[in-house]
Amino acid sequence: MSEIPVISGDAVLTAVDAATAVERTRHAFERHARGEWAMPPKVYVDAPPNGDFRAMPARGDGLAILKWVTSFPGNSARGLPVVRGVLLLSDAGTGEELAVIECASITSLRTGGAAAVSAQALAREDAATVGIVGCGVNGAWAGRCLAALGYGDGVCADSRPEAAERLAAELGWRAGDRAEAAAQDVVVTVTPGDAPVIATGDLRAGQHLAALGADAHGKAEVELGAIRRCRLFCDEWAQASAGGELSHAVAAGAVAEESVTPLGRVFTGDAPGRRTREEITLFDSTGLAIQDLAIAAAVYDAWKRGEVEATTARL
Ligand SMILES: NC(=O)c1ccc[n+]([C@@H]2O[C@H](COP(=O)([O-])OP(=O)(O)OC[C@H]3O[C@@H](n4cnc5c(N)ncnc54)[C@H](O)[C@@H]3O)[C@@H](O)[C@H]2O)c1
Repeated sequence: MSEIPVISGDAVLTAVDAATAVERTRHAFERHARGEWAMPPKVYVDAPPNGDFRAMPARGDGLAILKWVTSFPGNSARGLPVVRGVLLLSDAGTGEELAVIECASITSLRTGGAAAVSAQALAREDAATVGIVGCGVNGAWAGRCLAALGYGDGVCADSRPEAAERLAAELGWRAGDRAEAAAQDVVVTVTPGDAPVIATGDLRAGQHLAALGADAHGKAEVELGAIRRCRLFCDEWAQASAGGELSHAVAAGAVAEESVTPLGRVFTGDAPGRRTREEITLFDSTGLAIQDLAIAAAVYDAWKRGEVEATTARL
């Protein structure tokens, strides 16, 4: 019989700060690119008409996870969360269950972490300003993680002005409109992806874009013309080409695998990142189970150090 911690979302967000999320996310991309971490494709289980469940497994650094998470868009109208679920953490040596962790909090930390590590790898060295388009749950974490890397002077834009103002106040940045946010050195888009929020005419030389909102088929935040002007990077080709920001460009025949670099290969030195000061880089994030694993490991480490409040369950 094992007794394991059951860790709430609030406890996760207390245990892991933005700087740790960035560091762990980068570690995940690097390990996966080196072939040291395993990540089978995620599995979708449709639940019509409400949405779908996703099962996201990964293994690395002696641990294994399964994230079991929803995307139920209709839940908003019912006053319920769109994204909810749990992450199961196991010992990859013995198979022993180690923890049950709330997973929306893990998702936010690793999503913010991905935006930040893409800027670390691809933004110009003198990039200083940030624009966040879509300042909801995950956009806010992108802002926090970029702030933890020292990016300042940010512009927060959201179709709900109160969301932009809240994030701007928290980070000491300012609220602005979409065009102002899109004009910054590093631009992060984290909207539902119902309509493009980056137009071709928004782009200027040397920018870095992190497109996070389009993480499923049919979503897009960046116009095709803008994608054509960028050097392209993704978290993983299989996910990005099937349901990420690049998927509509792939379907239109405008982008092929050879022209898209997985971000982890930049960290391992196997592929070049930014090549010139002028080029515009675009990172398509769809969200990987290896990122979840990296954050879950940080939470578990903190719990072992006695830094996380958790109830326990006997299995
Ligand atoms: N890439 C990843 O790893 C990853 C991870 C989590 C979520 N996501 C995706 O990111 C998106 C946002 O998720 P969330 O949980 O932050 O949602 P959310 O509802 O908390 O935030 C979305 C925000 O975008 C704003 N918005 C909507 N349309 C806009 C527009 N046209 N211009 C400016 N702002 C606009 C909304 O007002 C809201 O504040 C979703 O599509 C989600 O599936 C991606």
